[in-house]
Amino acid sequence: EKNNFDHFMLKEIYEQPSAITDTYRGRLLADEGIIRMAGVDDNLERFLNAKRILIVACGTSWHAGLVAEYIFEDLARIPVEVEYASEFRYRNPIINSDDVVIAISQSGETADTMAAIKLAKEKGAFVFGVCNVVGSSISRETHAGAYTHAGPEIGVASTKAFTTQITVLTLIALKLAKAKGSISNTDFHMHLQELETIPQKIEVALESNAHIKEVAFKYKDARNCLYLGRGFNFPVALEGALKLKEISYIHAEGYPAAEMKHGPIALIDEEMPVVVIATRKGHYEKVVSNIQEIKSRQGKIIGIVTEGDTSVRDLADHVIEIPDTIESLTPLLTTIPLQLLSYHIAVMLGKNVDQPRNLAKSVTVE
Ligand code: M6R
Repeated sequence: EKNNFDHFMLKEIYEQPSAITDTYRGRLLADEGIIRMAGVDDNLERFLNAKRILIVACGTSWHAGLVAEYIFEDLARIPVEVEYASEFRYRNPIINSDDVVIAISQSGETADTMAAIKLAKEKGAFVFGVCNVVGSSISRETHAGAYTHAGPEIGVASTKAFTTQITVLTLIALKLAKAKGSISNTDFHMHLQELETIPQKIEVALESNAHIKEVAFKYKDARNCLYLGRGFNFPVALEGALKLKEISYIHAEGYPAAEMKHGPIALIDEEMPVVVIATRKGHYEKVVSNIQEIKSRQGKIIGIVTEGDTSVRDLADHVIEIPDTIESLTPLLTTIPLQLLSYHIAVMLGKNVDQPRNLAKSVTVE
């Protein structure tokens, strides 16, 4: 079942190009300039009339929700709030009947997410599910939804579920943006065409595997690790840190790069590896100056950069390249090296990668 891979996690990392192709198959018609998603088409008015979108999820799915917040607001100009399902459900939250709630869950069985859905339904909101497991409890409880079609994810550490969730959410955002007219035709077509190239670009990103393994070897004995990113890649930093924690048991934290000077910078010394997502988009110059600040305190930099980058290469201890793409789609590529980095570190430390201690694949109790 693992084919030639040592672990399900590695197999699932490598499955991402085909998983994402499955996610957009029949939905993304780039040449025609159409995105077809029955669950959205059938409820288009609810989406278009929504004053805001509330996203509820846990763990990695919550990180996908955070990426979606940036994408929805940027493309579709709809305000988005992203909530931990466990906090939302117990907070006496304000939910209006014209809210659209998107629940994201790989397993479709997460207890807290399910409880948040039930609460939102009681208050009259329209609830849309983004699940991987077909026929799961959450997919049945929601009013409508879109499956990620990632195929079974066995490794406890979520990988292909994350990138396919982002893909589905991007398709929805683009579809709404088109319907609302908040995106120009040129931009819309460019996004569709670029989204189609992502699987191929992930293949290219995966070619860095041997290099990433060498980097992993250098940092496997670290006690702590910091992950920094900005904008669309801030949630990717959180996800990178979660991946390292859960399978290697190394303490890791993700931060928006600019928050570093509000506290975490105090942690930096020659023992501290800092993974910085510094693609040549968005706030690149600012991230480069963060890198300079870290270097002047002897921190070790692992930069995730756009291919051909030279500025970060000059400063960083290691760089891992990913292909260029439009900014909103970079999370689909920057995630890949972070998954591989955690994977190799965990394997080198002899940890049980597919079934880390204390964790379950679906958290069906609160
Ligand atoms: O099945 P779900 O997407 O609802 O699961 C949510 C979290 O339990 C899950 O993402 C968890 O954080 C993973 N172990 C992360 O790799």
